[in-house]
Amino acid sequence: MPINLWKVILVHFSTISVFCCCLVKPAEDANIPAIAKYFSTKGRYEEVNPHLIEDILAVNRSVLQPPSAQCQEIHLTAIIRHGTRYPTSKNVKKMRKLYELVKSSASGEESWLREIQSQWKMWYTEDMDGRLVQKGVNDHRHLAVRLSKLFPSLVTEEKLRGGFIKFISSSKHRCVNSTLSFKAGLTELWAITDQEFDHAVNDALMRFFDQCTRYVQEVDNNRSALSELDNFKQGPEMRRVQQKIADRLGVPYNTITDDMAEAAFYLCAYEFAIKTVNSPWCRLFDEVDAQVMEYANDLKQFWKRGYGYDINSKSSCILFHDVFSRLDQAASENKSGQRVTEAVTVQVGHAETLLPLLTLLGFFKDSDALTSTNYASQAQRSFRTSRMLPYAANLLLVLYDCGGGDLRLQPLLNEKPLTFPGLTDRQASVPRYQDVREHYGELLRGCDFETECQLFKQSL
Ligand SMILES: *[C@@H]1O[C@H](CO)[C@@H](O)[C@H](O)[C@H]1NC(C)=O
Ligand SMILES: *[C@@H]1O[C@H](CO)[C@@H](O)[C@H](O)[C@H]1NC(C)=O
Ligand SMILES: *[C@@H]1O[C@H](CO)[C@@H](O)[C@H](O)[C@H]1NC(C)=O
Ligand SMILES: *[C@@H]1O[C@H](CO)[C@@H](O)[C@H](O)[C@H]1NC(C)=O
Repeated sequence: MPINLWKVILVHFSTISVFCCCLVKPAEDANIPAIAKYFSTKGRYEEVNPHLIEDILAVNRSVLQPPSAQCQEIHLTAIIRHGTRYPTSKNVKKMRKLYELVKSSASGEESWLREIQSQWKMWYTEDMDGRLVQKGVNDHRHLAVRLSKLFPSLVTEEKLRGGFIKFISSSKHRCVNSTLSFKAGLTELWAITDQEFDHAVNDALMRFFDQCTRYVQEVDNNRSALSELDNFKQGPEMRRVQQKIADRLGVPYNTITDDMAEAAFYLCAYEFAIKTVNSPWCRLFDEVDAQVMEYANDLKQFWKRGYGYDINSKSSCILFHDVFSRLDQAASENKSGQRVTEAVTVQVGHAETLLPLLTLLGFFKDSDALTSTNYASQAQRSFRTSRMLPYAANLLLVLYDCGGGDLRLQPLLNEKPLTFPGLTDRQASVPRYQDVREHYGELLRGCDFETECQLFKQSL
């Protein structure tokens, strides 16, 4: 835990004069980089759920808050990002370039620098290209087991065997492998060896961003769509980070470009995510630097997948309707006395799948846009990809039947409760499904993928 947070806690406790005998500072784990909670989409799932560091299978069922004890879970949709993966070949190239510069030109005397120069090996190769690593296999195996503990009446052996649990994956190998790992988590848990379980590959749903022409042209393939990011990279905060890295390495300022700084941050993040080591590369950043790097990543996600452009979230209309039609089906089956045929749906995709959907639903929206010039005033922003989108990030939608036709819907992100923005229920934190449908009524009646994604949208 960072010093600052402890200061806050201590100040807080001393002001209200509480004597707390059980506030014991956990031993700093030398294997965890001090900057690990700023790795944005390269972050470890355990950083957003630190209790998992001690027990990777721990769950807390009291985070589920149906309004009464008689409520029963009737459907779960889990939209999950793939697990920890290798860097893409593009980033491996950048990392190698930095490594070569450090090896040939860095001149400092510190032991961590000598460790990089004489012991550390550039072991990343371009053919690793984004593949799932063993840690990523475990991310999904363990998540599957936790979900079976969190939803003991839905994620069950009987439902899996009976075909009431459905799996859908993006076609990317890291997603397919994550899906296989999730299934393996369940079949190992129940020692199932006599039956296999299918999954569907569906890029229209899980990689909608590739198929939305307007998104591809106006944002994805449009360099000027990311001008806020470009300006931030040229700005004073980022320049200061580059200079501090150059000082720590003892190389001229102009050799550390923003790409080099990014590569250094990736090296620290990947060594940690993949091997759980606190690598000497992490010594190139202090916490202030890491916050600047995190902001640059958040800026990129904000403009490329989040609130920056309306089409970013609209590209997920197809997934939005898919989710709600499934909830509707479960609701109507339950109401008409039938068994819910799709009790659980597990959908495995990308950070790029989750963020547009979270944005369409209105989560993590701050009053101001993230820009190149408001780094300081965005210090308390809720749009923080480090907390939203680590590896294996997951959006869970839990539908409850509370008797007498009272259906409720609870959203969770990364196994922690969320509240639908703008939807406050006086009685309970978990709103009625009907109220959720009304809240998103405009999107449910519109948000047509074909219409939104065509290039020359008719304005009516
Ligand atoms: C479980 O979650 C509840 C509600 O969020 C919280 O009050 C409680 O402290 C948690 N328990 C543990 C053991 O983490
Ligand atoms: C992922 O799947 C591919 C085949 O699709 C396989 O070659 C590879 O070993 C798998 N990787 C892991 C980590 O399971
Ligand atoms: C690229 O993005 C800029 C900034 O949003 C926008 O003004 C421009 O129209 C976009 N170009 C295309 C081809 O859509
Ligand atoms: C709806 O689901 C609940 C919880 O599983 C169940 O108790 C109830 O009987 C179901 N309703 C009908 C009409 O089947």
